[in-house]
Amino acid sequence: MSLFSKFDDMRAIIDSLVASGRNPFDMRFERILSATEALLEGRPCLLFGTNNYLGLTFDATCIEATVRAVHEGGTGTTGSRIANGTYCDHALLERRIAEFYGKRSAMIFTTGYQANLGLISTLAGREDHLLIDADSHASIYDACKLSAAQVIRFRHNDPEDLAHRLRRLKGRPGSRIIVTEGIFSMLGDSAPLREIAAVKREMGATLIVDEAHSLGTRGKNGRGVCEDAGIESDVDFVVGTFSKSLGAIGGFAVSDLPDFDLLRIVCRPYMFTASLPPAVVGSVTAALTRISTDKSLSARVLSHSGRLYSALAQAGFEVGPEPNPIVALKMTDKETAVRFWNRLIDRGVYANLALPPATPASLSLIRCSISAAHTEAQIDRAISIMVAVGRELRVLDPRPAKTPVHLTRSLPI
Ligand SMILES: Cc1ncc(COP(=O)(O)O)c(C=O)c1O
Repeated sequence: MSLFSKFDDMRAIIDSLVASGRNPFDMRFERILSATEALLEGRPCLLFGTNNYLGLTFDATCIEATVRAVHEGGTGTTGSRIANGTYCDHALLERRIAEFYGKRSAMIFTTGYQANLGLISTLAGREDHLLIDADSHASIYDACKLSAAQVIRFRHNDPEDLAHRLRRLKGRPGSRIIVTEGIFSMLGDSAPLREIAAVKREMGATLIVDEAHSLGTRGKNGRGVCEDAGIESDVDFVVGTFSKSLGAIGGFAVSDLPDFDLLRIVCRPYMFTASLPPAVVGSVTAALTRISTDKSLSARVLSHSGRLYSALAQAGFEVGPEPNPIVALKMTDKETAVRFWNRLIDRGVYANLALPPATPASLSLIRCSISAAHTEAQIDRAISIMVAVGRELRVLDPRPAKTPVHLTRSLPI
C-alpha cells in the first residue's frame, strides 16, 4: 500500500474527467485579459466562474494603490503580526472595515478560509455548542474539526430545525454559537436571516454570519444580506473575504463585542501565519473605498444577475432559487454536467463545474458567477451559448424558442 493509495478513488475520478475532456481542477489560462476575459487554449474566453463580483481586479485605483504600497512597504511582511508587528496600513484597513460595518472592531486574516477557521474554532470551546447550517462552506466545517465544541448541523436554511436543536440543549452548560452564510456559494440562495436572528434572540445564542458572497453585492450600502434583512444589530460577528468583491486575497471578522481584540493572542490561524503583504492591504483599502462610494457597482452586478437568471430560467433550465451573483444550472447527472462544462469551454465560456460531494443535495451543477464588469453583450452571449449547449445536449427542449431568450427583461431584484 502506498502512502497515496487512500486517494485511489480521487485519481479514478480525475482520470475519468480527463477522459471526458478536460481536468476541471487544473485549468490553465494563458493570459488574463480583463476582469471578464482570458486566453484559454489559445482563444479568448468569457469568464463566468471567477467570483469577481464587482470586477475590481483591474480597477485603476486599486492597481495604483497596490503599486504604491509595494514601493512604500515592500513585497511582504515576512511574518505574523504577533511576532513581526503590525504595519500602520494593517491597522488602517481594520479601522476602515469596522467603520464600513458600523462595528467597534475588525480583525484581518490572511485568507477568508483562515478567518472562519480562526474565529469559529477559537470562540467555540470544550463546553460550547456549534450549530452550523448543513450546507456550510468547507472553511466552516474545518473550523468545527479544529474546535473542541460539540458540533450540530441544522437543516439548510431551516430556522425551525435550528430552534428545535437548540431546545434539545436545554439545561446543558456552554454557549450556543450559530453559524450561517449570507449567500450560499453553490446555489446562490440566501439565508432567512430575519428568522434565524429571531431564534438567536429567543435562545440567547451567539450569531456568526459569513458574508463572503454578499459583501458588496447585497444591502443598500453593500454590507450584505444582514443589512438587507435589517438584522445587523443581532449579528455578533460578520466574517468575510477580500478574495471576491474586493478583488484581492484575505479575510476579516468584525464585531461590537468589547473583548474582541483578545482573539489576537488566542486565535492560532491569526497568530501563526504571515500577515497580509502591503500590496494586498493597499488594494483592499482602495477597493473598500470604491464600494463605499460607488453604488453603481452593486446595482450593475445585480441587474446582470437578474438578466442571466431570468433568461436561463425562461429557456427552461432548472436554476437556483433566487437571482444572486451566483447562478447555478442544475444538471440531470454528473456525466451531463461534465459534458456541458466542456462544451461551454469549446464555445468560449468558462464557468465552474461543481460535483458531489462538494455540492448540496448531491447536485451536479454548472455554477456561474456574474461581475459588474461584464457588459450586457457578454451576458447575452453567454446566455446564447448556454442555451445552444443545453439544446445540443438535450438538457433543454432541442426546438428553438420563438422569442430569442437573450432579449428577456431582467428580473426586478
Ligand atoms: C462562504 C465562503 N466562506 C469563506 C470562503 C473562503 O474565502 P477565501 O477564498 O478568502 O479563503 C469562501 C471561498 O470560496 C466561501 O465561499
